[in-house]
Amino acid sequence: VQKMFLRGRPITMHIPDQLRESYSLDHKVALPERKLKLQWVYGYRGRDCRSNLYLLPTGEIVYFNASVVVLYNVEEQQQRHYLGHNDDVKCLAIHPDMVTIATGQVAGTSKDGKALQPHVRVWDSVSLNTLHVIGAGVFDRAVTCVAFSKSNGGAHLCAVDDANDHILSVWDWQKEKQLAEVKCSNDSVLGAVFHPMEANLIVTCGKSHINFWTMEGSTLTKRQGLFEKHEKPKYVLCIAFAGNGDAITGDSSGNIYIWAKGHYIFKVQVVSGAHEGGIFSLCVLKDGTLVSGGGKDRRVLLWDHDYRKKSEIEVPEAFGPVRTLAEGKQDELFVGTTRNAVLRGSFSGSLTPIVQGHTDELWGLDVHPSTEQFVTCGQDKQVYLWDTSSHLPLWSKDPGRSVGFHPSGTVLAVGTMTGRWLVLDTDTRDLVSMHTDGNEIISAVKYSPDGAYLAVASHDNFVYIYSVTENGRKYSRVGKCTGHSSFVTHLDWSTDSQFIVTNSGDYEILFWEASSGKHITSADAVRNLEWATSTCVLGFNVFGIWPEGADGTDINALCRSHDNNLLASADDFGKVHLFSNPCSQPRAPSHINGGHSSHVTNVAFLHDDSHLISTGGKDTSILQWVLA
Ligand SMILES: *[C@@H]1O[C@H](CO)[C@@H](O)[C@H](O)[C@H]1NC(C)=O
Ligand SMILES: *[C@@H]1O[C@H](CO)[C@@H](O)[C@H](O)[C@H]1NC(C)=O
Repeated sequence: VQKMFLRGRPITMHIPDQLRESYSLDHKVALPERKLKLQWVYGYRGRDCRSNLYLLPTGEIVYFNASVVVLYNVEEQQQRHYLGHNDDVKCLAIHPDMVTIATGQVAGTSKDGKALQPHVRVWDSVSLNTLHVIGAGVFDRAVTCVAFSKSNGGAHLCAVDDANDHILSVWDWQKEKQLAEVKCSNDSVLGAVFHPMEANLIVTCGKSHINFWTMEGSTLTKRQGLFEKHEKPKYVLCIAFAGNGDAITGDSSGNIYIWAKGHYIFKVQVVSGAHEGGIFSLCVLKDGTLVSGGGKDRRVLLWDHDYRKKSEIEVPEAFGPVRTLAEGKQDELFVGTTRNAVLRGSFSGSLTPIVQGHTDELWGLDVHPSTEQFVTCGQDKQVYLWDTSSHLPLWSKDPGRSVGFHPSGTVLAVGTMTGRWLVLDTDTRDLVSMHTDGNEIISAVKYSPDGAYLAVASHDNFVYIYSVTENGRKYSRVGKCTGHSSFVTHLDWSTDSQFIVTNSGDYEILFWEASSGKHITSADAVRNLEWATSTCVLGFNVFGIWPEGADGTDINALCRSHDNNLLASADDFGKVHLFSNPCSQPRAPSHINGGHSSHVTNVAFLHDDSHLISTGGKDTSILQWVLA
């Protein structure tokens, strides 16, 4: 017997007979030879960030999700990733050289409680090398706007800190030196940009304001934009510049205002009611025409040089309002949406999604038994079946918390938040069967390796066992496992499909006979069993995954590679760990991988161990890692 402690509770683990003689606590486990490399990010942060999508000369679009900045070549279906940030990225700017990029991040907390300072990173989008780190220790809360100057060769960078005073600061980024700072506004600031022709002029906008700042030496002097007899908008949402230097703004009332160069305090022209509801983005194209994107009306409008409407397209409802617009090659246009999708299209055609993802916390993840597909589900009431090579969902359907493929791959079971669970046909997505057990969260649904049983684990402390016939189409309950004194968290089947092992919220490890649901108390009956999967976070073969001083909620999920060589864990601090399997020595070493910006909720190896998929909690992102 081996014991470990979590929150002062002893956890007893049985050593298999085979190892009894040779096992020693002091034996060292080696780091796995293989490592994880981030290959794909399924997601875009459009919900609450602005001006965060651009096309680079390399043909890649650049945007961010969680702490990863993604460079995505849509034609070649390749992504590269800038991984210098250690928490959520909130803003992005491209230097006039079109190679250098600046990204700003929030303040975070590391695993050991240390503060991670908000800062701006300036990096090279070709080599992905970090050139400069700016403002660590100066910014307070989160850098939410960043921009490079244009007319002086891009020597300056401005940034807005989302602290109470919304400090606007200007930097010589190459010297990492602050040149000026000023309280920008008490109200929220949504945009800050340099004028394209005047290096010392910065325009900021936000709640009920548009301000024109002139920098002289280290002072920034403000002139407020005046709306005169026009109604002052609740929010000025976005700024762009016409070829002649006029500033163009879009606001929450759907108006476009043009602020003539040289007279920035007077609005000289207005297109009122350009959109129904707010204008979330403006983009001046190379030919000088203007594109505007609507919040409420989801419309993308093209305006000629005299601000007459020329053309329009609409974002399909499922993708939500326009968040940001970026000009592509020829007449191509990229549209980021507030429902976290990126679409591509043109005014002569339609818009099609190229990036899609969940919009709320997701926990459910399983891999197809024999193809490159995986399935995810989350609180946004969507179940997505993904293809790891096309990187797009094959279909989506509501709702779910946990999910598991039948070994035949023809159906999958989805557990919900309310005790209900459903079975869906993988091809047609038709509902095959629906049942209810209790009324709490279904934390795991897992078929036995032979496909003859389904185990449904619930937060009501029970596991329900069903016999499965007709290749996953027919279900009848054969047992209810009664004995846990807390909610069931994880579950695995034995290779012979006869037994299950479960973990619970109070760190119990219990064993059950599947055909009857009978609790097995004899250690000798279970110590030598082989398990088809290894998702239980507590057990003799895996206890080394727990860090020193762990409190029992530090690890959310675990999985074993199909070749039995590796264990991957999802921790509560945004990290994916890779261990050697088995992991029966305390505090085993691991490769640690960042990218998520909040707790990692689940991990799974693809059927052929070519990839690992990890899912995020608050960051709602899906990351795809390749094993190298
Ligand atoms: C990451 O992407 C997902 C899917 O598009 C989105 O829902 C989520 O808000 C993004 N999260 C962050 C923190 O960027
Ligand atoms: C910001 O708020 C403070 C205190 O509430 C007030 O004294 C100050 O005038 C305000 N500043 C601006 C620019 O509105």
